[in-house]
Order: sequence, then C-alpha cells, then structure tokens
Amino acid sequence: MLRIRVSGFREALEEELDLLGVAVVEEKLGEEPFKSLAERYPALSRAAEAEGFKGSDGQSLLFYPDGRGPRRILLLGVGGEVDLEKIRVAAANTALKARETGSRRFGLLAPWDAVEKPRCFEEASLAAHMALYEYTKYKSEKSGEGEKPRPEELVMVGGDDEALKAAERGRLIAEAVALARDVGNAPPSDMNPEGFEREARRLAEEKGLVVKVLYKEDLEKLSMNGILGVGRGSGVPPRLVVLEYWGAGRDKPPIAVVGKGVTFDSGGLGIKRHESMMEMKYDKCGAATVLGLMKAVADLRLPVNIVGLMPLAENMPGENAYKFGDVLRMYNGMTVEIGHTDAEGRLLLADALAYAVDKYKPSEIIDLATLTGSIVIALGNHGAGLYANNEELAEKLLKAAEKTGEKLWRMPLWKEYYEQLKSQVADINNVGGRWGGAGTAAAFLSKFVGETPWTHLDIAGTAWVQKDGPKKPYYPKGATGYALRLILEHLRSQASTHH
Ligand code: BES
Ligand code: MN
Ligand code: ZN
Repeated sequence: MLRIRVSGFREALEEELDLLGVAVVEEKLGEEPFKSLAERYPALSRAAEAEGFKGSDGQSLLFYPDGRGPRRILLLGVGGEVDLEKIRVAAANTALKARETGSRRFGLLAPWDAVEKPRCFEEASLAAHMALYEYTKYKSEKSGEGEKPRPEELVMVGGDDEALKAAERGRLIAEAVALARDVGNAPPSDMNPEGFEREARRLAEEKGLVVKVLYKEDLEKLSMNGILGVGRGSGVPPRLVVLEYWGAGRDKPPIAVVGKGVTFDSGGLGIKRHESMMEMKYDKCGAATVLGLMKAVADLRLPVNIVGLMPLAENMPGENAYKFGDVLRMYNGMTVEIGHTDAEGRLLLADALAYAVDKYKPSEIIDLATLTGSIVIALGNHGAGLYANNEELAEKLLKAAEKTGEKLWRMPLWKEYYEQLKSQVADINNVGGRWGGAGTAAAFLSKFVGETPWTHLDIAGTAWVQKDGPKKPYYPKGATGYALRLILEHLRSQASTHH
C-alpha cells in the first residue's frame, strides 16, 4: 500500500516526483492545468501536437521534462465527459506506469471536481491501489526485489485535507478488495474449507467481528444437506462460516450477504474435463468477496448491521461423494433430486440462504456466486447477471453498480424456469436442462428465500480475469473482487438514508 500526500499544483511542479500523471479532458488543451504545463514545458505542447494528443479517451503521451520538477509527465486523455470510471482508469494507468518506470513517488492530477470532489479522490486512490495489487504469497523472489524501485508514495495534486481523508478511505477499500483477491487467488488445497475458516477467524479477531461456525455435526442436526451433500466427496469437511457486524444496534434487522464458497469445483462425480477444472479454485470468489466486504464495513465503521454467510465445501468425487439421483433434504425441508453433481453451488447457497432468513430475519439478502457458465455465454466477461424478487432492491443495486463501474444487468425470473426444474421423485431438481442455465439456477435459489427481498449476482464471468476477457487497468490477472465495491456502495447509501 502507498503513502498518500496532497499537494498544490504549483508545488507539485517544483517537486522531484518520479512521475506525474495528468488526466486531460478532450479539446481542453487550452485550459488549466494543461495550459500551465505547456507554458512551462514548450516541448510538451510540441510533443502533444506531433503525436496528435487531444485528450481523447484512451490517448496517452509520456514526456520527459528538462530541469527541475517531475522527471516524467504522463498525459492521459479522458475524453469529453468525465465520470468516476474515467478517473479510476486514469489513476490506475498512472500507477501502472509508475511501476513500469520504477517510479517511487508519483503524483496524479485529474479533473477532481468533475463529479463529487471527495469521491473522485477516493476512487483515484482506490483504483491506483487496485492496479498495483499482486498475488505474491508463493513467489520466492518478490518481484521488484533487487530490481527497479517500487511505487511507494502517491501525491494527490490539487487535494486538501478532505481529499486526503477520501484518498485514505479509497486505500482502505482497496485493502478489502486485496483480501478478497488473496483468498480467491489462493491455491485450493491451502484455501480449503479449513484454511478459509482460519482466514475468516483471523479477520474476525482483528476487526472484532462475531464469528460463528457450523461444522459437520451442526449441519447434520439442522438438516443442511445441501452443504453436506456437496462436501461429502472431500476429505476436508464442509462448514458454514458466519461473520456478524452490528454497526446499527442489535434491534435493527441485518442485511445478509451470502457468498458461494466452493473452494474447488471438480464437478464431483460428474467430473469436469481438465480445461474447465483449471480455473475452479476461483469458485470460492463469492465467499472471498463476502470476507473482503466484512473487512471494509468494519474498517469504515458503517452504521449498518451486516451478516456475512460463507458456505464452504470442496466439490470432489471421493468415495462418499453425493451421486446422480440422490435426494437431499434441505434446511427448509424441501427435497432436491440431484440431476447433476456439478450444479453444486445452488445447493450450498440454498441452505445458507434459508438459514439466513430463518435465523437472522434480515431486511434483505444479497448473494453472489460464480454460479453458471451460462451467464458467461449470455453476458461475456463484461458484467454480472442480476436476479431479484424485489424491484426496489434490484434498482438500488443497479444504481450502485453504475457508480462503481461494475457492470450489472438485470435478468428475468420467468415462471418457465421453475417448470424446467420439475423432478419426478423430489420437490425440485437441481438442474433444469441445457437452456437458460443461469435463469434456472437463479429460480432454484429463489425457492429458499421465502418473501425476503433478495438479489442474486451471478459473477461467473467477472470474478476473475479470464483469457480473452476484457482488460481493465485496475484488474490485474487473477481474482478481481468484483461486486465488493458495488455492495459496499449499496450499504453506504443505505447508511446515509437511514441516519
Ligand atoms: N462453478 C461452476 C460455474 C462456472 C463455470 C463458473 C465456468 C465460472 C466459469 C458451476 O458449479 C457449474 O459447474 N455449473 C454448471 C451447471 C450445470 C452442470 C447445470 C455449468 O454452468 O455448466
Ligand atoms: Mn460446478
Ligand atoms: Zn461451482
């Protein structure tokens, strides 16, 4: 993580920054701050002219000034209309250039008052930190060691005390995203249900969260055979880890957030071919993001009540594995026929959802899960699918996602999906045939939340950076932490409307 400072524009030009990133609005080369830069460095405007740099979205120009002041200036075009995403992208690209050039101290100047001013500083810092994230736990030689200097300090040019606070908030959120990514990126045999529980307990201890864990025997008593069934083929028993944060007092109902925590998805007896199994350590990204979210909520001391539920299991084809044709009796009493052992996520989520409703009487439930390949076919890796039984909640999440730049698209819960899930022998089948797989999976989940306002985010396409997927400068390879920021945004706006 970076040290953060604020500085005035004039002061920044006197400072020996290793790199100064400047976001330039399209066709505004005649205005500040570019005007002053051009006056000070005539060669800069010549370079911009020669390279055709106008500030169009995505354009960039690296310039090496003479004399005192910044050693490098990176101009970044942000196009005509500036929004938070453009600020994030400019900040992330500056941070990446700082790393590439071995810049220890780098500054950023952007059109800070384009949107809400403090929020721009927050998002810039957040994105710079997110861009510099690396998963190095198992690298013997930490990259950068003995090589180029690493970015250490970020100077927010044009910021005041409020901006500094906002930027520090951004760094805090980036740390939560980094936790979600670390857990998502971790090798599956280390971050198995046991390792994951350890990670959750560590966080709870550090942040003073309430932690509750239901082990095999507890799950058996409660008839949580969805979680148990999925975990039966593994040598590491499944469990349900629950973290509670009571920021608004015990008498107010909490919001429940449930994340799919399949620490490895082999497909079970319906085993996947190795190409599709390759990335299935990421099947715990929903739960990992819930963990990161709990950290963020605690660090920001949000005045809200949140319960994070993380059902954890390894889906393996061991000798006790659940089988095709098995029937499981779930926590809510429903019976489920197993039509496919690879449709495991909905089983463990179903128990966690029903348990959350029953035990916590939450005002709303949000679940997030790398649930179906089908949603990736539908939306690509650009965004996640949103399913909801409640219009108001759906609208709120779509709005939050718009703000955080995490694309989210509302999908239907047609009654026909429920018909696809009919079973000969049980109340419901866990699969609904080939077509509309994301919809039938969501329809399945909806059976376990009763009347509670609920939304489900199918993050299979966005939870990690996939080959041939879209590239964002603040999404390095591996787990993205997608949805953490949008759910946090939703919680923050809840907090501000109720207080
Ligand atoms: N974890 C997978 C879904 C997945 C696939 C996530 C690809 C990310 C990338 C899930 O458990 C699964 O296997 N789903 C099956 C369901 C099918 C058997 C009904 C799928 O989507 O193919
Ligand atoms: Mn599966
Ligand atoms: Zn899965």
